[in-house]
Amino acid sequence: MFTVGILTISDMGYRGQRVDTSSAEIREVLSHLDSAVIKYEIVPDEKDVIARKLIDWADEKIDLIVTTGGTGLAARDVTPEATLEVVEKLVPGLAEAMRAETLKKTPYAMLSRAVAGIRGSTLIVNLPGSPKAVRECLEAILPALPHAIAILKGQTSDHRLPQPIGEKTG
Ligand code: MTE
Repeated sequence: MFTVGILTISDMGYRGQRVDTSSAEIREVLSHLDSAVIKYEIVPDEKDVIARKLIDWADEKIDLIVTTGGTGLAARDVTPEATLEVVEKLVPGLAEAMRAETLKKTPYAMLSRAVAGIRGSTLIVNLPGSPKAVRECLEAILPALPHAIAILKGQTSDHRLPQPIGEKTG
């Protein structure tokens, strides 16, 4: 089991002018894994506010922080910059996989500047803002998340893919 924090980054959501349906999408997709969402907040598109929240949640040793929103090209989109400020290592493959896999569905996938990285034992993953994009991107990385988190928690050194019961391993 791993713990999750969902950070929705949206000026309009923060002001109560837009309903946050993307976080519900994240909850639904992650419900397919053995995970528990223990933190959820909406913050405005302010780099310092986002960075502070990521630091606080990582200090609390949440296993996975998923952000949604603020990854695009608009002037106030600063989620990747806030994330880059706080992570100690990048995990580029997660962002690469999200863009590569979901480009098959929409050319707009290349417009998300989402990044992923590690602070302490916490994995931080940016997702775009729309519920559709959230589902597409999260589903693309879902198969690797439990293993990534197990490694971060020092729980495994076995890198084989889980095998369906009855099949040969190796
Ligand atoms: N990625 C996927 N898989 N599906 C999408 O519909 N939308 C794109 C992109 N990534 C999209 C996507 C669009 S339209 C934008 S503007 C960027 O994500 C940035 O979105 P954000 O600023 O809400 O984070």
